[in-house]
Amino acid sequence: MHRWKPALAATLLGGLLLFLLIRFFFPWPFTEPTQPPSALSPRQDLEAFVKSYWQTPIALQGPPPPSYSKLEASLSPEACGSCHAQQHADWKESLHSRAMGPGPWGQIIDLTRNSPQEAVQCMTCHAPLSEQIPVLLKTTKSGDTAQEKNPHFDPKLQLQGIVCAACHVRNNERFGPPKAQSTMGAPYPPGTPNHGGVQRTSHFERAEFCRDCHQFDPENGVLVNGKPLQDTYREWKTSTWAKDGAACQDCHMSNRRHLWKGIHDREWVKGAVRVESQVKNNTAAGAPGSLGATVDVVNAAVGHKFPSYITPKVFVRAALLDDRDQILRGTQQERVIGWDARFEAGEWKEYFDTRISPGEKFQAIFEWTPTARARKIRAWVEVHPDHFYHVYFYPAYLQGEHLNPEGRKLIEKALKDSGNSHYVIFNELMPLN
Ligand code: HEC
Ligand code: HEC
Ligand code: HEC
Ligand code: HEC
Ligand code: HEC
Repeated sequence: MHRWKPALAATLLGGLLLFLLIRFFFPWPFTEPTQPPSALSPRQDLEAFVKSYWQTPIALQGPPPPSYSKLEASLSPEACGSCHAQQHADWKESLHSRAMGPGPWGQIIDLTRNSPQEAVQCMTCHAPLSEQIPVLLKTTKSGDTAQEKNPHFDPKLQLQGIVCAACHVRNNERFGPPKAQSTMGAPYPPGTPNHGGVQRTSHFERAEFCRDCHQFDPENGVLVNGKPLQDTYREWKTSTWAKDGAACQDCHMSNRRHLWKGIHDREWVKGAVRVESQVKNNTAAGAPGSLGATVDVVNAAVGHKFPSYITPKVFVRAALLDDRDQILRGTQQERVIGWDARFEAGEWKEYFDTRISPGEKFQAIFEWTPTARARKIRAWVEVHPDHFYHVYFYPAYLQGEHLNPEGRKLIEKALKDSGNSHYVIFNELMPLN
């Protein structure tokens, strides 16, 4: 009866040693959380912040603290701009300030009459403060949605789109990023009223801060061939940019500028997309297809797909030129970079998806039958930021029978504007010998 005891003791001791050894080298499965159980990890903290901060429509601010001057209490971008001039000047130039331009507003006017809930849906991204929305939606006891007139509605603010307060003010309190080492546009003159200070959080520097408006829900949103119609955050998240810690703000708000340049800015796009062309001349053979050119388009510094949305198209074109640099008839060819998805007969259909992921390359290959009149090859790349709207969406929308006249006029303007936003990022004439 006593004989097994040393064996047991040895086994127990061995087990204990093994346990300590494993614990020493691989502490993670055994360690207790170092924080009390209620504390959140940095990731959970970020997600919790974003979730509560971006409840949209953003709740009415309520009465301002009595200590605020009229200027500090105002939600208008001009009021903020009287103390934050640089941010205001930038924002005025940005598309965030035009998020209630003719295209969105022309549709929202009609929706406000016919389907107020859908109008509110649009405004959760295009003009998200409750003060910008004419109705307040309430869920009744029976679970229905009821609407009532919003006594705090400000029609001027509504048309100013994504105003400063949408990103920076909750319950009249200012939120912002940690103080920058070289804050531009500040120092505030001594004694400047400061709206009771600022709640500073590094969450302002994270991509998740932009996610609610730039990413459709991949679980419950509309999917086209398995992809959400807006997928920018996830495209970024799986890229090397995210892995290396470059957030949206590092590119789109560098030095904390408020310009948010994107596909509508030629210089910006040229700086991030590399294009190279080459002649593939094999004219000695003289056979059809023996004269050629390649155009490589590289997504060198776009933090997501180039382009990200279904709305832009990038045309890669090439043609043969004669001795006066005129295009020889019938020689122009084209390849298209973009996500061609259209809403037809009640559903979304994908035609093609040739967008370029970060770091990757699109190669267009062109071939012609050699001709004696050809002296050069011209290769060029044209960006049409609003192609989808101009070619498909607005023309179809204007076919609608019951458009209100004001909405129709706005959409006609949007149709015209969307046809004028294209530009060339690459144009090369390559001599043939
Ligand atoms: C009367 C002048 C005044 C007005 C109006 C004003 N601010 Fe400020 N704001 C200040 C001052 C002063 C500070 C610096 C406060 C501090 O560091 O504690 C500041 C700081 C900030 C910061 C932190 C960034 C930094 O430079 O330190 C943000 C963000 C901000 N304000 C947003 C806004 C927004 C949005 C509005 C309009 C809704 C607004 N402010 C209106 C004076 C003003
Ligand atoms: C989840 C946020 C979100 C919602 C909801 C949303 N949009 Fe947008 N919308 C965007 C973003 C982001 C862009 C910018 C896309 C781009 O630059 O290509 C945009 C662009 C647009 C544009 C083209 C830009 C312009 O100013 O002409 C129109 C038009 C538009 N939206 C209309 C609407 C309408 C109408 C609704 C409601 C039916 C709506 N949007 C709902 C986020 C949203
Ligand atoms: C779409 C959201 C958004 C809008 C709209 C917006 N901001 Fe900001 N703002 C930010 C973010 C995000 C940062 C921090 C950026 C970073 O850390 O790179 C910031 C930073 C700031 C700062 C600190 C600047 C510094 O140099 O430290 C001020 C001041 C400010 N914003 C004021 C404004 C004012 C005034 C407006 C309107 C004219 C405005 N913001 C509109 C998102 C926004
Ligand atoms: C409240 C919703 C909202 C938030 C938050 C928001 N955006 Fe936007 N953003 C939009 C909408 C809507 C548009 C399109 C405006 C238009 O053209 O009508 C837009 C346009 C843009 C564009 C211009 C795209 C183009 O077509 O050239 C860029 C870049 C951009 N946003 C980046 C950001 C970044 C970075 C952040 C985070 C700091 C951010 N946005 C936060 C709604 C938002
Ligand atoms: C490494 C730099 C970089 C990062 C990081 C980055 N972007 Fe961009 N973004 C660009 C460039 C360059 C363009 C212009 C080319 C283009 O449109 O694809 C652009 C374009 C856009 C556009 C225009 C729409 C379109 O169809 O292309 C939007 C909106 C946008 N970015 C939002 C974001 C958001 C949101 C994030 C973060 C989740 C982000 N970007 C991260 C560089 C960046």
